[in-house]
Amino acid sequence: MNKNHPLTFPYRITVCDSTAQLVQKIIDFLEVRLRERVSGKHVKPFGLATGRTMEPIYSALVERLKSWPNNDLNKLLDDWISFNLDEYLGLKDGDSRSFRSYMERTIGVPLDLNSSKLRIPYGQAQDPHKEASSYLDDLLSFGGLSFQLLGLGLNGHIGFNEPPSGPEDSCRVVTLSSATFKQNAFSFGGDQDIVPRKAITLGMKEILAAEEVHLIVIGKEKSSILYELFCSKCSDQIPASWLRNHQKVFLWADSAAYEKVQVFINH
Ligand code: GLP
Repeated sequence: MNKNHPLTFPYRITVCDSTAQLVQKIIDFLEVRLRERVSGKHVKPFGLATGRTMEPIYSALVERLKSWPNNDLNKLLDDWISFNLDEYLGLKDGDSRSFRSYMERTIGVPLDLNSSKLRIPYGQAQDPHKEASSYLDDLLSFGGLSFQLLGLGLNGHIGFNEPPSGPEDSCRVVTLSSATFKQNAFSFGGDQDIVPRKAITLGMKEILAAEEVHLIVIGKEKSSILYELFCSKCSDQIPASWLRNHQKVFLWADSAAYEKVQVFINH
C-alpha cells in the first residue's frame, strides 16, 4: 500500500461484490442500533437520506423489521424519531418527487409510521429560511443525531451541501448545482430543467456532530468521486471530504464503486 496516501479516514470499510450482499450487511448493523432503542437505552434521533442508493436499504430494513416480534416493533415505532437531510423547495404538497413522498413511500406507509415521526424540512414553507432555522431547532432539542446515513453526490455533496460547503455550515436554504440537476433528473422524467433549483439541507455541522456516520456508495458511476474522497485533503470543494474529521465514519461500498480506490491501494 502506498504509505503517503491519506487512506485512513474511515473508521471501518466494508466492501462487497454484490449490492444485495452489501445491503444485508448494512441492515445487520443498523438492526443492532435500532435494538438499542428498543432495549430502553437513550438513543438520539436517526439521520436519514434519500436517493437511489437508499431505496434497497429501506426496502430491506422494512422487511427485517417486519420479522421482529410485534412488541419490539411497536416499541421501536412508538419511539421512532428520524430527521431527513434535505427537501426540495417549491414542489406542491404530496408531489411524488418530493423527499417527503419518498420517505412515506419507502418507510412511513410500509411500517405504518405516523408522518410526524419522519421529520423532513417543509418544502412549501412561506419563509424557507425560517423553516430551516426551526428544523435545526427541532433537531437540537433532541440533542442531535445518533447515526446518520449518507449517500454521496457525484460532485462530492452530502445532503444538499453543494461545493463549496464547509464544516461550519449549518442547516440552511441552498441553491443546487448543475451536477445535482443532472444526477437527480431521473426522478423528474429525465428532465433536468424541472428539477427544483433550491432546497433546505442539514449542514455539514449537524452531520459532523452525529455520533456515527454511515457513508454508502454504490455503483461504478461513483468510483471517481469515491477515489477523490480518499485522495483529497479536506476541502469545501468536496464537502464529503470533511467526514475525514469525524471519529466514526463507516464506509459501505460495492466493489464497482470501490474499484478505483482498490487499484490505488494495490499500487
Ligand atoms: C441527493 C440527495 C442526497 C443523496 C445523494 C445521492 O441529491 N440530496 O441526500 O444521498 O444525492 O443520491 P443517489 O443515491 O440517488 O445517487
